[in-house]
Amino acid sequence: MKKSGPDIRYLFEPRSVAVIGASRKRQKIGFKIVENILFSKYPGKVYPVNPSGGEILGLPICPSLDDIDGPVDMAVLAIPAEFVFQTVEDCARKGVKFLVLITSGFSEVGNIEEERKIVRFARDHDIRILGPNIFGVYSSMAPINATFGTREVSPGHVAIITQSGALGLAMIGKTAVENIGLSAIVSVGNKADINEADLLGYLAAHEDSRVILMYIEGIKDGDKLVDILQETTRIKPVVVIKSGRSKAGALAAASHTGSLAGADEIFSDIMRQCGVLRAESIQEAFSWCKFLSTSPPPRGENAVIITNGGGIGVMAADASEKYGVRLYDDVETMKEIFADAVPAFGSVKNPIDITGQATAVDYEGALQAALKNDDIHSIICLGCETAVFSGTELSETARSIFSQGKESKPMIFSFFGGPEMEKSITELRTDGIPIYSDVYEAVSCFGALYANYRNLRRKKVEPVEESAIDLAVIDRIVKGAMKDGRKSLISYEAAEIAEAVGIPLPARQIARNLDEAIEAAEQIGYPVVMKVVSKDILHKSDVGGVALDLLNRDEIIDAYGAIIHNCRARKPDAAIEGVEIARMVKEGLEIIIGARRDPSFGPIVMFGLGGIYVEVMKDVSFRALPVNRDEVQSMMEQIRSYPLLLGVRGEKRKEIDGVVDAIMKLSHLIQTCRRITDVEINPLVVYQQGDGVQAVDARILISNATR
Ligand code: COA
Repeated sequence: MKKSGPDIRYLFEPRSVAVIGASRKRQKIGFKIVENILFSKYPGKVYPVNPSGGEILGLPICPSLDDIDGPVDMAVLAIPAEFVFQTVEDCARKGVKFLVLITSGFSEVGNIEEERKIVRFARDHDIRILGPNIFGVYSSMAPINATFGTREVSPGHVAIITQSGALGLAMIGKTAVENIGLSAIVSVGNKADINEADLLGYLAAHEDSRVILMYIEGIKDGDKLVDILQETTRIKPVVVIKSGRSKAGALAAASHTGSLAGADEIFSDIMRQCGVLRAESIQEAFSWCKFLSTSPPPRGENAVIITNGGGIGVMAADASEKYGVRLYDDVETMKEIFADAVPAFGSVKNPIDITGQATAVDYEGALQAALKNDDIHSIICLGCETAVFSGTELSETARSIFSQGKESKPMIFSFFGGPEMEKSITELRTDGIPIYSDVYEAVSCFGALYANYRNLRRKKVEPVEESAIDLAVIDRIVKGAMKDGRKSLISYEAAEIAEAVGIPLPARQIARNLDEAIEAAEQIGYPVVMKVVSKDILHKSDVGGVALDLLNRDEIIDAYGAIIHNCRARKPDAAIEGVEIARMVKEGLEIIIGARRDPSFGPIVMFGLGGIYVEVMKDVSFRALPVNRDEVQSMMEQIRSYPLLLGVRGEKRKEIDGVVDAIMKLSHLIQTCRRITDVEINPLVVYQQGDGVQAVDARILISNATR
C-alpha cells in the first residue's frame, strides 16, 4: 500500500545527512558535495559513507550506513546507477527519510524499469526520492548546500525549482552575479517521485521564500500541480519558465481540441489560470524574481510615470498597457499633486513630463510629491540623459528617494544615456535599487508586481452545482462502441450523448436508403442537411460526405447520389450504413467548444471561434478543470476574436451566457465519464442575446482507460 511518506520539511531542514559515495578525490562529485555541505555551515550531523573508510575534510568516513551511530534524515547518493537499488535497501534499513539521488543513467536514458523499481521500493518503505539525475538541493533554512554546484550561494528570498540540472547549476552562479539571494534551489531531474507539486507544498508556507521560480521542461501529475499552484499563488508569486513543446498531446489528438494548439499553448493558458507568471526568458524571470522579492506590495493600482522625456514616457505608457499596469488617470488630482514640480510647458497627465530642462532637484520635487501622496500607489521614474544634470546627481536623487520609499511604495527606475548613465545604473543596481536601461524591462517588473497583486486577491473557484447526467444512456452508447472496438462515436451516438448532458442538436433521422432519406426530410421539414453515417468515416466533410441546405425532394435525390459516390470513391473500404438527415440550422456566429483529457493536465476545456479563427489563427483558449462560470468567461475573453461575441459594426451582443452554459456542460461530462477522452461541439452556432445557441455537430472519442 502507498504510504503518505515523511514530512517534506526534512528535505529542506534535515537534522543529519549521509553522503553515500563520498570521495577523497577532489574532482569527484562525492567530494564536492561533502565540501559544499561543510562550507555552507550546515549545523546538523554529516556522515560521509564509502567502503574504503578513512577521513575526508576532517570527518571520519563510515564504511557503510549501518556503521552510522544515530538517525539519518537525508542521504545524498553519488554512486553509479548499478549500485543504487542495493543502497536504497540499506537506507530503508537505516530509516532514512529522503534520498537525494544525484546519479544519472535511469529513465532519461531509457532505464525506466530500474527507476520504477527503486521508487516502488522506496515508497513501500516510507522513503521519498528527489531525482534521480540531479545536482542536489540547497536550502537556506538548514542551511545546507548539498549540491555539487558553486559553494558561493547567497542566502535570500527566492526559491528555485529546476528540472534542468546544468541550467540550475548555472542559475546558482548567475543569481549571485545578479545579486539575487536564494532561500532554496532544488533540482528535480527525472521527477521519479518528488515533483514540483510536493515542493510547492513546503515553499508556499515558508515565509523566507517570498518568490518561487520554476524551470519546467515537462509536466508530471499536472492536475495535482494545478491545485497546489492555485493555492500558492494566492499566498506569493510563482514565476515559471518553460521550454520544450511536448508532442504527446498533438499525437494523441484526433479532434480539434487536441490538435489546434500545441501542448505549450495549453500550458500557458493553464499557468495563467493558476495565477502563475510565465516569463519568456531567464533574464526576464530573474528580473521579476529580484523585484518581487524586494519590493513592498502596492496598496492599489494607481501607477505614475515621471519622466524628463516625452518619447520615453510614451514608451513606458505603451509598456504599461502591454504588461497590465494601470496608469493613474485622475488629471485634476495630479494637477494638485504636481503643481509645484512640473513647469507650465510640462504635462501632469500621466506620464508626468517634467521636461528636458528638469534638473535633479526637479526630479526630487516630483518624486517626493508622488511618494507622499496616498492616491499614488507606485512610481516608474524615467531619466533620459541631458546636459542639465549629471548622472551622479540623478543617481543620488534616485538613491535618496528609494531609501525613503522602499518600505512603503513600489518604485522602479529606468535611465538611458551614455557612459555616465550606465555607470549610475551599475552602481544603483549593486546597491539593490531596481533600475534598468530598457524601459520595457523595467515596466515588465511592474507588470509582474501587479499580476501578483491581483492574484493575491482573486476568488477561489468554488465547486458548481451540476445537474444530473443520464449516465445510463452514455454508458450504453460507449459500451456499444467499445464492443465494436471503436475509439470514436458515430455522429448520432455523439448527438445522443450531447443531448443527455443538455446540449440539444437539431431534429434528425437516420435513413438507410434514398426512400427513407426523402421521407425523413419531409417529416423534419426543409431545409435539411445530409451527412454520411459510417463507423469508418470520422471527418465526413473531408470525403465529400456532407450536403447542406437541401430545399426539396430533387435536391435530396442529387445529394444522396453524390454523397454515396464521394464516400465510395474516397473511402472504398468504409462500411456505409446510410445517411443522417437533420434540420438545417439558422446562420449565426460559429464557435467551437471542446473538452478532453490532456496527457499532462487531465481534463481540460477549450473555446474558440469557428472557421479561419481556429484553423488559421489558432485563436483558442484552454482551462484545466474544474472551472466555474467566471473562469469560463475569462477563458472566452482571452481570445483575440472575442469582440465578435460582444457585437461589432452595429451587430448586437451574442448569447454569451448560452456559450458558458454549454462549456460548463462539456466540462461536467468529461469529469464524470472517464471513458470519454475528447468531446467537441463544432460548430456551436451563437445567436443574438436572448435567442440562444444551437449545437450542430458533436464528435466524441473514447478509450478503455479509466484514469
Ligand atoms: N556505497 C558507498 N560508496 C560507494 C558505493 C556504495 N555502494 N559504491 C561506490 N562507492 C564509492 C566509490 O568507491 C567511489 O569512491 P572513491 O572515489 O573513493 O573510489 C565513489 O563512491 C564514487 O563512485 P565511482 O564509481 O567512482 O563513481 P563516480 O564518482 O565516477 O560517479 C556518479 C558517480 C553518481 C557521479 C555518476 O555515476 C553519475 O551519475 N554522474 C552524473 C551525475 C549527474 O550529472 N547528475 C545530474 C546533474 S544535473
